[in-house]
Amino acid sequence: MALEWKKIYSVNVKEIDGQHQKIFDLMNKLKRLEENEIQSDTVINVVNELEDYSIYHFNTEEKHFDKTKYPETEFHVKQHEKYKKKLSELKKEVAEKSDKETVDKVFNFLRDWWINHIVKVDMEYSEFFNKHGIY
Ligand SMILES: [Fe+2]
Ligand SMILES: [Fe+2]
Repeated sequence: MALEWKKIYSVNVKEIDGQHQKIFDLMNKLKRLEENEIQSDTVINVVNELEDYSIYHFNTEEKHFDKTKYPETEFHVKQHEKYKKKLSELKKEVAEKSDKETVDKVFNFLRDWWINHIVKVDMEYSEFFNKHGIY
Protein backbone atom coordinates (compact mmCIF):
# COMPACT_ATOMS: atom_id res chain seq x y z
CA MET A 1 0.00 0.00 0.00
CA ALA A 2 1.33 3.40 -0.96
CA LEU A 3 2.17 5.96 1.69
CA GLU A 4 0.05 9.02 1.58
CA TRP A 5 1.05 12.51 2.71
CA LYS A 6 -1.79 13.89 4.80
CA LYS A 7 -2.80 17.34 5.92
CA ILE A 8 -1.90 16.45 9.53
CA TYR A 9 1.74 16.28 8.38
CA SER A 10 1.68 19.90 7.28
CA VAL A 11 4.16 22.21 9.03
CA ASN A 12 2.45 25.16 7.35
CA VAL A 13 5.51 26.09 5.30
CA LYS A 14 4.87 25.54 1.62
CA GLU A 15 8.44 24.79 0.54
CA ILE A 16 8.94 22.28 3.35
CA ASP A 17 5.58 20.51 2.90
CA GLY A 18 6.44 20.17 -0.79
CA GLN A 19 9.78 18.59 0.08
CA HIS A 20 8.16 16.18 2.55
CA GLN A 21 5.69 15.18 -0.17
CA LYS A 22 8.56 14.51 -2.55
CA ILE A 23 10.14 12.26 0.12
CA PHE A 24 6.88 10.32 0.35
CA ASP A 25 6.97 9.93 -3.45
CA LEU A 26 10.50 8.56 -3.28
CA MET A 27 9.58 6.10 -0.51
CA ASN A 28 6.68 4.88 -2.66
CA LYS A 29 9.05 4.55 -5.60
CA LEU A 30 11.25 2.27 -3.46
CA LYS A 31 8.25 0.21 -2.32
CA ARG A 32 7.03 -0.21 -5.92
CA LEU A 33 10.33 -1.85 -6.88
CA GLU A 34 9.27 -4.84 -4.80
CA GLU A 35 6.33 -5.50 -7.09
CA ASN A 36 8.61 -6.77 -9.83
CA GLU A 37 11.76 -8.81 -9.61
CA ILE A 38 14.12 -6.71 -7.53
CA GLN A 39 17.02 -5.22 -9.49
CA SER A 40 19.95 -4.32 -7.33
CA ASP A 41 21.03 -1.31 -9.42
CA THR A 42 17.57 0.21 -9.43
CA VAL A 43 17.20 -0.18 -5.67
CA ILE A 44 20.58 1.43 -5.06
CA ASN A 45 19.67 4.30 -7.37
CA VAL A 46 16.45 5.02 -5.50
CA VAL A 47 18.16 4.80 -2.10
CA ASN A 48 20.83 7.20 -3.38
CA GLU A 49 18.14 9.54 -4.61
CA LEU A 50 16.47 9.40 -1.21
CA GLU A 51 19.76 10.10 0.51
CA ASP A 52 20.58 13.08 -1.70
CA TYR A 53 17.13 14.55 -1.45
CA SER A 54 17.02 14.08 2.35
CA ILE A 55 20.27 16.01 2.68
CA TYR A 56 18.94 18.75 0.43
CA HIS A 57 15.79 18.90 2.57
CA PHE A 58 17.72 18.96 5.88
CA ASN A 59 19.80 21.81 4.50
CA THR A 60 16.63 23.77 3.78
CA GLU A 61 15.41 23.35 7.36
CA GLU A 62 18.82 24.06 8.86
CA LYS A 63 19.22 27.21 6.77
CA HIS A 64 15.99 28.48 8.32
CA PHE A 65 17.22 27.47 11.80
CA ASP A 66 20.32 29.63 11.33
CA LYS A 67 18.39 32.54 9.95
CA THR A 68 15.80 32.56 12.75
CA LYS A 69 18.14 31.42 15.55
CA TYR A 70 15.78 28.54 16.25
CA PRO A 71 16.29 27.47 19.90
CA GLU A 72 15.88 23.71 19.23
CA THR A 73 18.53 23.66 16.51
CA GLU A 74 21.04 21.44 18.29
CA PHE A 75 18.58 18.67 19.12
CA HIS A 76 16.95 18.83 15.71
CA VAL A 77 20.20 18.72 13.73
CA LYS A 78 21.29 15.75 15.84
CA GLN A 79 18.20 13.84 14.64
CA HIS A 80 19.12 14.64 11.03
CA GLU A 81 22.66 13.39 11.64
CA LYS A 82 21.41 10.13 13.17
CA TYR A 83 19.22 9.54 10.14
CA LYS A 84 22.10 10.14 7.73
CA LYS A 85 24.25 7.66 9.61
CA LYS A 86 21.54 4.99 9.73
CA LEU A 87 20.66 5.42 6.07
CA SER A 88 24.27 5.08 4.99
CA GLU A 89 24.50 1.82 6.97
CA LEU A 90 21.32 0.51 5.36
CA LYS A 91 22.61 1.56 1.96
CA LYS A 92 25.61 -0.70 2.45
CA GLU A 93 23.35 -3.56 3.50
CA VAL A 94 21.09 -3.19 0.51
CA ALA A 95 24.07 -2.96 -1.84
CA GLU A 96 25.26 -6.32 -0.52
CA LYS A 97 21.87 -7.95 -0.61
CA SER A 98 18.99 -6.44 -2.56
CA ASP A 99 16.35 -8.99 -1.62
CA LYS A 100 12.80 -8.23 -0.60
CA GLU A 101 13.61 -8.54 3.08
CA THR A 102 16.40 -5.97 2.96
CA VAL A 103 14.44 -3.54 0.79
CA ASP A 104 11.56 -3.87 3.26
CA LYS A 105 13.90 -3.14 6.13
CA VAL A 106 15.03 0.07 4.44
CA PHE A 107 11.48 1.05 3.54
CA ASN A 108 10.20 0.41 7.08
CA PHE A 109 13.00 2.45 8.60
CA LEU A 110 12.28 5.34 6.22
CA ARG A 111 8.52 5.27 6.73
CA ASP A 112 8.77 5.14 10.54
CA TRP A 113 11.52 7.73 10.71
CA TRP A 114 9.88 10.28 8.43
CA ILE A 115 6.41 10.09 9.89
CA ASN A 116 7.71 10.29 13.44
CA HIS A 117 10.19 13.06 12.63
CA ILE A 118 7.63 15.19 10.81
CA VAL A 119 4.89 14.96 13.44
CA LYS A 120 7.11 15.16 16.51
CA VAL A 121 10.25 17.10 15.59
CA ASP A 122 9.53 19.19 12.49
CA MET A 123 6.12 20.19 13.82
CA GLU A 124 7.91 21.96 16.69
CA TYR A 125 9.24 24.69 14.38
CA SER A 126 5.96 25.29 12.58
CA GLU A 127 4.67 28.18 14.66
CA PHE A 128 8.15 29.59 15.23
CA PHE A 129 8.86 29.73 11.49
CA ASN A 130 5.47 31.32 10.82
CA LYS A 131 6.21 33.94 13.45
CA HIS A 132 9.42 34.73 11.60
CA GLY A 133 7.55 35.17 8.33
CA ILE A 134 8.36 31.73 6.90
CA TYR A 135 5.28 30.19 5.34
FE1 LIG B 1 11.61 17.76 7.54
FE1 LIG C 1 13.78 17.93 10.36
